[in-house]
Amino acid sequence: MASPPDKTPDRIAGMFDAIAPRYDLLNRVLSAGIDKRWRARAIRSLQLTGRETGLDVCTGTADVALEARRGGPSGPPAARVLGVDFAGAMLSLGKRKVEAAGEAGRIALVRGDAMNLPARDGSVDAVTVSFGIRNVQRPEVACAEMARTLRPGGRLAILEFGVPRIPGLSAFYLWYFTYVLPRVGRAVSGHNAAYSYRPASVGTFPPPREFMSILTAAGFTDVRADPLTFGIVYLYTARKA
Ligand SMILES: C[S@@+](CC[C@H](N)C(=O)[O-])C[C@H]1O[C@@H](n2cnc3c(N)ncnc32)[C@H](O)[C@@H]1O
Repeated sequence: MASPPDKTPDRIAGMFDAIAPRYDLLNRVLSAGIDKRWRARAIRSLQLTGRETGLDVCTGTADVALEARRGGPSGPPAARVLGVDFAGAMLSLGKRKVEAAGEAGRIALVRGDAMNLPARDGSVDAVTVSFGIRNVQRPEVACAEMARTLRPGGRLAILEFGVPRIPGLSAFYLWYFTYVLPRVGRAVSGHNAAYSYRPASVGTFPPPREFMSILTAAGFTDVRADPLTFGIVYLYTARKA
């Protein structure tokens, strides 16, 4: 396996700060809009009742925090959500979206590190991470932090890119991910390293079985990994033991 890219917090935060203005647009374009469905699916897996305090780790521009507050035919929204990220520019855009949605009283966005979460032990009912965990320098530390902040029985939902294992599709996906995505990303964001970093960070992230073991070791139970869209993305779900 190739060696993982440099994930020192300053480098990662700087990279996301640099691409922040184009981040949402690139997400929609590069995933052909499917990313919205992946996030909605993650929120549905939490089986919210309307009373929960949610914690969205690596919240970025707050798409998942907003989705948790949206509710809809599949269930009520979380009562409130705390979003945490260490990239100030991503959070600023998130704050604007939260205000525009009239959610400023229910969604708080704060600067912080996934490896040292700004929340008390057992203080939240549900934790989400969407396309953030592979960027964290020590994912096992972040998983232990998520377990610490969750109340016993609280639910976890993590979305992360995977590598599809279907012949033909895998070859196409690898080509798209290695050649097309970095070029489009570079052209739209004007940032050289960020969209080459993406395939590198996905290729070196632990495969589902290994990541499930990390969650179990961190104190989670009922750990599952469900492939979405042919395994392009995995939804990891678990409960705090
Ligand atoms: C690919 S973006 C995902 C944003 C958002 N969750 C979404 O679904 O669009 C990854 C985010 O994780 C944040 N991040 C990465 N490592 C982090 C860490 N250790 N602590 C806090 N935020 C982190 C980055 O700043 C970035 O905003």
